[in-house]
Amino acid sequence: MSDLLRDTFGRPLASLRISVTDRCNMRCRYCMPEDDYVWLPRESILTFEEIARLVGVFAGLGVHKVRLTGGEPLLRHDLPTLVEMIARNARIGDLALTTNGVLLAKHAAALRAAGLQRATVSLDTLRPERMLAFAKSARHADVLEGIVAAQRAGFARLKLNAVVIRGFNDDELADLIEFARVHDAEVRFIEYMDVGGATRWSMEQVVPQREMLEVLARRYGAIEPIAADGRAPAERFRLADGTTFGIIASTTAPFCRACDRSRLTADGTWLLCLYARSGVDLRERLRTGATDAELAALLRETWQHRADRGAEERLAVRDRGALYAIAALRADPHREMHTRGG
Ligand code: GTP
Ligand code: 5AD
Ligand code: SF4
Repeated sequence: MSDLLRDTFGRPLASLRISVTDRCNMRCRYCMPEDDYVWLPRESILTFEEIARLVGVFAGLGVHKVRLTGGEPLLRHDLPTLVEMIARNARIGDLALTTNGVLLAKHAAALRAAGLQRATVSLDTLRPERMLAFAKSARHADVLEGIVAAQRAGFARLKLNAVVIRGFNDDELADLIEFARVHDAEVRFIEYMDVGGATRWSMEQVVPQREMLEVLARRYGAIEPIAADGRAPAERFRLADGTTFGIIASTTAPFCRACDRSRLTADGTWLLCLYARSGVDLRERLRTGATDAELAALLRETWQHRADRGAEERLAVRDRGALYAIAALRADPHREMHTRGG
């Protein structure tokens, strides 16, 4: 039975993050801080048919959550068509999107109509001038419009992601909570991670979960933790007035032990961990005629041997710096955060 597929730590294969493009229309400092990038070759990008076929194979092994990411997924032409193809698979009970929001207003209704159930929008700052300086994008107003459009389109449980960086936006925690409350969304504060792409990372810039909670408690009083299923990266909290928010403490308190996710890059490389140095080339198999049964056997065999716990291993590193220097990223763009989908 599919639900018996477990890795060496007993973790099931339940969630798949699919990066549909490595391109992005923003340049967030924590993800794409360099001036130029090596892109995946166009002919290597999986077609919608190839992605949908792989989703079918993964679903047969127990995957029931799919999240579309990028780069910026809305840069992929005709994304609602892919959504529709995946939504047709009855085993996928949760189909979501993570986007920077710039193009969301334009596409929200079509995505919802195609069967997308949830959306998460990155919103690191409420100040346009900060976004311009930090992400080289002047389109803050478009992001806010995207959030409104997503609410209007009727997505369930809209989430806002804010990567918190000392000296950049760590003074906006309460403002972001207020903004989320007004927009009927839930904000999640993300600790800055030392993943590929974050070439300017340093521990000093990380605001640990504990510190975020202290700051918020000074403003709001008692903060109550909400019991969770343990698989989601975010720990959730409730303020006295009922407002909820999340913290993703992947840097100081990783959730590897409960991680049921893997990721597929736009060119069909299957990665078992956000921190994995390399992955399995599924595109090659697809394009040389592997059957679904052969693909399933490869996935099964690979998952059964999975022992990744990248974020926990990073915790043990002394004098921790960025995971990769830029030369190492250029040597293999699969190591980039914008290639593997955040
Ligand atoms: P749901 O829990 O399904 O709503 O989605 P999510 O929270 O996984 O999706 P989202 O794209 O919003 O991811 C939020 C953040 O979680 C990312 O920015 C990463 O910082 C972190 N994250 C996502 N996947 C992983 C992972 O595999 N490992 C680690 N350590 N962190 C991850
Ligand atoms: N640390 C934490 N989160 C990151 N993301 C991208 N780079 C980093 C990083 N270095 C997040 C984005 C987005 C998600 C897909 O990944 O903010 O919310
Ligand atoms: Fe683009 Fe997302 Fe990376 Fe920002 S975090 S540069 S929006 S892929």
